Amino acid sequence: MSLADELDDLHRPEGCIKSAQQLAARLWCADEAFFMVNGTTEAIHTMMLAALSPGDVIIVPRNAHRSVVGGLVLSGACPVYILPEQDNILGIAHGVTAETVSQALAKHPTAKAVLAVYPTYYGVASELCGIAQAAHEKGVPLIVDEAHGAHLHFSDELPPDALSCGADLVAQSTHKLLGAMTQASMLFRKGNRVPAERVNRAASLLATTSPNYLLMASLDIARLQMEEEGERRVARAVRLSEELRTAVNDLPGLWCFGRERMGYPGASALDVTKLTVNVSGLGLSGEKAMRILRQKKIQAELADARNVLFVVSMADTERETERLFAALEELSLENAEKGIAPLLSVTAPPNLATALTPRETFYAAREPVPLERAAGRIAAEEITFYPPGIPAIIPGERIDEDAVGYLQEMTRMGMKVTGAKDVSLSTICVVK
Ligand SMILES: Cc1ncc(COP(=O)(O)O)c(C=O)c1O
Repeated sequence: MSLADELDDLHRPEGCIKSAQQLAARLWCADEAFFMVNGTTEAIHTMMLAALSPGDVIIVPRNAHRSVVGGLVLSGACPVYILPEQDNILGIAHGVTAETVSQALAKHPTAKAVLAVYPTYYGVASELCGIAQAAHEKGVPLIVDEAHGAHLHFSDELPPDALSCGADLVAQSTHKLLGAMTQASMLFRKGNRVPAERVNRAASLLATTSPNYLLMASLDIARLQMEEEGERRVARAVRLSEELRTAVNDLPGLWCFGRERMGYPGASALDVTKLTVNVSGLGLSGEKAMRILRQKKIQAELADARNVLFVVSMADTERETERLFAALEELSLENAEKGIAPLLSVTAPPNLATALTPRETFYAAREPVPLERAAGRIAAEEITFYPPGIPAIIPGERIDEDAVGYLQEMTRMGMKVTGAKDVSLSTICVVK
């Protein structure tokens, strides 16, 4: 808590913090904005604590960020996982469809909320308006992890932003795609499906009593910058990324998908400022290409088995995109003879029954067991392979023979694994 009156109090804002939050709410067309100094993780935890009570059912995409699992532990809610659509050529997961959400709501009529990730890290946007409609028809709020979408509001050439699609609560990483300092994010509320008072209490419960004023001021400045220059800057990012996409697609062995691959359920529109460069045609994995590019002083945003992801942000100019193109051109020339990397077949993970809630699993004692003896036990860790980027096992799920077979097969094929304590997967962590 600040000791000086003029610095206001994040927990009971009445002065400068209140004005700054009101300006942000006005710009993004929300009823209320909250400044978060512990990242979008804090915003997601706040949304879930506000919308859910212990035992409540929530519909959650299986490939949601780990902060959602944290939100489930904190709120004590019970997840019903739904599967996102998958692109087997690119080896990445897209969004969930409105149809999948409707079916889950019909099957679980007691559900109290729907959570969506919109857009994905790769910039793929699902049909969020349809998802909002499906949730609202059942009288439940739609809460959206829009970590990668703070810039969408500023261009008609990008997918519509979550609030304009009807989302009730939205978490945005202002620090990822706009100018705020790392850790500075925003949470927006629109409408009263989640009571304002409850959102305020949840936000105050999770926020530090000593919020960093540099972080909060950076949120206000990021808002001001977007208010004054957002449309122009985002339009430039869109133009530069489209030019770069066209140029990259002329390079042998590289492929960068665009809007032509959209228009399907779960992948209805693309944030074109995300460039997913598929390097399989150079005989490289995405991770290997990312390491090579780093030696050329190019830092990619992310790499997976087949792709390297780049972001053309509202701060980038021709200088950055020309440098990136030159490095990709070199990469293409240096590896043109290698041939196509074998496309590993990607199968969807098996469907597992939930035995314990994330909260119960969090508090349970755990032990490692050899993978071949894990069938019948309850998983205590999440295990995800890339591709497909959808967790094969989530804490609290009962492992069966199919799941053991899937883990063995994916390991044998050399898929990159994350989440597991023992990355060789000779052992797996289960509830004691
Ligand atoms: C989709 C998604 N949601 C939430 C988060 C959490 O954001 P933060 O790092 O600001 O806590 C991330 C972080 O990368 C993310 O990718």
